[in-house]
Amino acid sequence: MRILGIETSCDETGIAVYDSKLGILINNIHSQANTHSKYGGIVPELAARNHNKNIISLIKDALSKTNSSKNNIHGIAYTAGPGLVGSLLVGASVAKSLAYAWNIPVITINHMEGHLLSTMLSNNELSFPFLALLVSGKHTQLIKANNIGDYILLGESLDDAVGEVFDKVAVALGLKYPGGLSLSILANDGISNRYNFPKPLINKPNLMFSFSGLKTSVINTIHSLSSINYQDKANIAKSFEDTIIEILVNKCSKAMHISKLKTLVIAGGVSANFKLRFYLKNMINKRKGILFYPKQELCTDNGIMIAYAGLLHLKNGKYNNLKTSIKSDWKIDSVN
Ligand code: KG4
Ligand code: ZN
Repeated sequence: MRILGIETSCDETGIAVYDSKLGILINNIHSQANTHSKYGGIVPELAARNHNKNIISLIKDALSKTNSSKNNIHGIAYTAGPGLVGSLLVGASVAKSLAYAWNIPVITINHMEGHLLSTMLSNNELSFPFLALLVSGKHTQLIKANNIGDYILLGESLDDAVGEVFDKVAVALGLKYPGGLSLSILANDGISNRYNFPKPLINKPNLMFSFSGLKTSVINTIHSLSSINYQDKANIAKSFEDTIIEILVNKCSKAMHISKLKTLVIAGGVSANFKLRFYLKNMINKRKGILFYPKQELCTDNGIMIAYAGLLHLKNGKYNNLKTSIKSDWKIDSVN
């Protein structure tokens, strides 16, 4: 089976072809980071316009380079939510038009489920049920995955998402948007414990997160310094990153304790962070558990995760009629 995957939930146009026998055939990603970086964040209308401008040439390129056509594509999977309305509509319209013209199934995929299932692509030993920490620019969620399409939300952020906070602090430190990776690199030069930032909800027994107080405290600290040199910035980045990691590790440890599950998946853009993985692994080793995450190049938004999730759903007999539309706030625990 061969699936065309279309991802347009945010500011990456991801077009990919996944084949159940041959694996990843192509993973085209057009990033709009340069367009949005001058605004310090995503401008939704610009994002939609850019998807609209680029999507057809990315699809043409993907089909021709993989010798794919209506004759050997068995389904089209697209991100139907959560995400920006205008951006989602571009992907949905193109996916449905092609599926109609080619008379093949169209499969609506939840973006966070795409991140989650992409972990299975490179980890054959991963099996249900397991816990997952989903950390992206818009979401911070702890879920229990019982099976494909069967997810229970155990906890989530009451306010900002982890990736969003990385990006906002990065901008305050003068780094380019999206700044998660560059902030983490800057933190490598920082000295530990120079700043003591708040850890909201860390002592609560539940699995909820809150990051806006931490974000405000870090940004206020940056603005309170009359002058700030490279070492100051690195020290702030280090204390900030350590604080975020401590909170995430703490809540994952609680989730493992409460659920008695030994397997944890981490997925979403922030799962690309090596230090987060390292500290999660340390905690999990002590619990005699195991940590899984997607391949590095599949951590951030891409079309492969959508194509692969589409394949798994299609194999289970799940696809949609052409009337199905986008759901900009689609929750992962309501995918079925
Ligand atoms: O999943 P993703 O590509 O897009 C959304 O669905 O939102 O996640 C993007 C987020 C951004 O906030 C970006 O700064 C963050 O992932 N990110 C990182 C790292 N790489 C990407 N955050 C921390 N450390 C990283 N290495
Ligand atoms: Zn994402």
